Amino acid sequence: MDQGSEMGSISIPDVPLKSSNRRMPVLGLGTAASPFSGSETTKLAILEAMKLGYRHFDTATLYQTEQPLGDAIAEALSTGIIKSRDELFIASKLWCSDAHRELVVPALQKSLENLQLEYIDLYVIHWPVSSKPGSYEFPIKKEDFLPMDFKSVWEAMEECQNLGYTKAIGVSNFSCKKLGDILATAKIPPAANQVEMNPLWQQNKLREFCKAKDIQLAAYAPLGARGTIWGSNRVMECEVLKEIAEAKGKTVAQVLI
Ligand SMILES: NC(=O)c1ccc[n+]([C@@H]2O[C@H](COP(=O)([O-])OP(=O)(O)OC[C@H]3O[C@@H](n4cnc5c(N)ncnc54)[C@H](OP(=O)(O)O)[C@@H]3O)[C@@H](O)[C@H]2O)c1
Repeated sequence: MDQGSEMGSISIPDVPLKSSNRRMPVLGLGTAASPFSGSETTKLAILEAMKLGYRHFDTATLYQTEQPLGDAIAEALSTGIIKSRDELFIASKLWCSDAHRELVVPALQKSLENLQLEYIDLYVIHWPVSSKPGSYEFPIKKEDFLPMDFKSVWEAMEECQNLGYTKAIGVSNFSCKKLGDILATAKIPPAANQVEMNPLWQQNKLREFCKAKDIQLAAYAPLGARGTIWGSNRVMECEVLKEIAEAKGKTVAQVLI
């Protein structure tokens, strides 16, 4: 995707990822839904997005959407919506209960099996915390939380890239301090950090830190996650953003993106 992908008449820019030859389209489709929308609905939504021009898809073991995403990719290839798997940028995430040295590579192998893929483009540590192995429950029970051994978990992430299972490795929900913990021992530095970010939560310190370290910062829930148990309407209903949207002749959602 060196030239960026075409979405309708709009070209989606892409950005380089450190220590990788893959470029990441800046606009992607998140596949998490709570409650889970079901495999068929998820697959159809992904196929519609592909028809519109989306090429970057974000999934995670926790979301239960790896399988429907894999089915959508297989169908898109067989029906010609996409010509080759290489046109896509697929990101997935290591869940906390697998964030233990010996469980990381098998967790990614399982994700690849779910996705029916030989490799993904970006694999990230979902949260900077480990939990009791074997449980994929969310929220995590208080007694199941464990501190993460950053050094050994990151070594296993590096092994995932060295084995060719992923083109790039990164993190999610990591602060400057926790990124510093990874960078202190990393042989392959994290290529990306996915965090919640929007005009009302600008992450200024983290943005500066990531820029200085050449780590791509990716925003999840840029529209503010309204309708979820953790988000709110504040972003979409912000008066300043509405004024900007009106002045530009765009919707608030377009301004946010
Ligand atoms: N790394 C992590 O820990 C983490 C955590 C959470 C999420 N994520 C990722 O981020 C994704 C969530 O981000 P998101 O971008 O979907 O959340 P978002 O920015 O909050 O956008 C979704 C919301 O925007 C609304 N919306 C969508 N298009 C719109 C439009 N054109 N005009 C007006 N409203 C519109 C939707 O409303 P309706 O529902 O009414 O259509 C929905 O409420 C997840 O799927 C997941 O991939 C990652």
